[in-house]
Amino acid sequence: MRHFTASDDFSAEMSDKLLGLASDILKNPADYSDRCRGKILATLFYEPSTRTRLSFESAIMRLGGQALGFAGIESSSVSKGETMADTVRIVSSYADICAIRHNLEGGPKTASLYSRIPVINAGDGGHEHPTQTLADLLTLLEYRGRIDGLTIGMCGDLKYGRTVHSLARALSRYSDIKFVFICPQELEMPAYITDELVSKGFSVEVSRSLEQNLPNLDVLYMTRIQKERFDIPEDYDRLKDSYLLDPQKLTAAKSDLIVMHPLPRVGEIHPDVDADSRAKYFDQARLAVYVRMALILTLLESTSESDAKPLPPSGAPCRNPKCISTHEPLPAYKTPEDSCLYCGAQ
Ligand code: NCD
Repeated sequence: MRHFTASDDFSAEMSDKLLGLASDILKNPADYSDRCRGKILATLFYEPSTRTRLSFESAIMRLGGQALGFAGIESSSVSKGETMADTVRIVSSYADICAIRHNLEGGPKTASLYSRIPVINAGDGGHEHPTQTLADLLTLLEYRGRIDGLTIGMCGDLKYGRTVHSLARALSRYSDIKFVFICPQELEMPAYITDELVSKGFSVEVSRSLEQNLPNLDVLYMTRIQKERFDIPEDYDRLKDSYLLDPQKLTAAKSDLIVMHPLPRVGEIHPDVDADSRAKYFDQARLAVYVRMALILTLLESTSESDAKPLPPSGAPCRNPKCISTHEPLPAYKTPEDSCLYCGAQ
């Protein structure tokens, strides 16, 4: 594995290995404190972030390495119009590995095609956020002891929420999971994800009501309505208060439920829920450091040029206005499934 830009960039076996390594680092952090001495991680963040950027920087430092980068394009040459391809070619000479967050879908994937160092997707527009998914999977293992057989509710903005896109796709590698998608009609999970789950034989229920489904859930994954992804601000205002998890609602939930959230929350979980032992979102953020340590170590230690996948043949230009290939001069590539190589749009 050379780059990590989407949740299907790693096999189920590799994902298990990473999670196993992350648990070991969690238990024996001192054993790893020198493993990346002399290595540099670049964090290229074109979009705001607290947890993801700081946890990547914390991860490389806890491995004995160092971090450099930018947070926001104002201070970088991106604001002068530099392309992703050029930026990452330059960064390849300054760092050994990089984590990229981009507002456009397919930004990190584009970087991976021009980079000489491993590229990690730290969130691209409304598309994917695969390292958050690793943190989510480790949280499930730590606090539920298993992933197979769980009934998992995802609630909120399932249309634009990249964390739930990556998580749902990664969970489709496990068995016997029941998915309950709780969202307003306008914010439903993209059809390509729901179709993939259904075609693999998973039970997928779509509902508007949190109250109605809460008693049946083993896991509730709350999400923020993604204000910055709406084209029409009034649509956001209408939908922003769709769901609120509060202690009163939790009284109907199972005693071993776990409540997750990638954070930041902006009103969908009442602060009084924090004291409930079922609230695991702060633990989830803590565990993210260990999965990112495991990922950095694995990519740095296993990298070889020959891992690079061949490019698919070129095809028609992508029609997704949020795809990086509609903003930067990039060749159009279609995968064998006829989706855009960069953003996955059909
Ligand atoms: C998420 C993100 O950036 O997609 N946050 C995170 O990385 N932990 C979720 C969000 O912004 O709502």
